[in-house]
Amino acid sequence: MQPKKEVIFQPPRKRVKVQVETSILEAARLADVDLTSICGGKGECGKCKVIVENTDAISSMTNEEKKHLTSAELSRYPETVNTLEKLKKHLN
Ligand code: FES
Repeated sequence: MQPKKEVIFQPPRKRVKVQVETSILEAARLADVDLTSICGGKGECGKCKVIVENTDAISSMTNEEKKHLTSAELSRYPETVNTLEKLKKHLN
């Protein structure tokens, strides 16, 4: 069984424990946090963006996913990411 990691969404300060390699969008759904996801997480609309505090905990965005970030958001990358990013298997 995969280890679980805790994700905290602020606001509304909801916590959920999910298995590693769960996407941020999936974690949000499990935590009952309403994130904009027009395409349902297919990577097409680019609307599911969040700011991540622990950037070491998530996978890197692909160039395809980075296309959905504005230049201002890219300047703040990796803190601003698409919610398709997954929680890393191994954290230090
Ligand atoms: S919901 Fe469309 S790219 Fe994330």
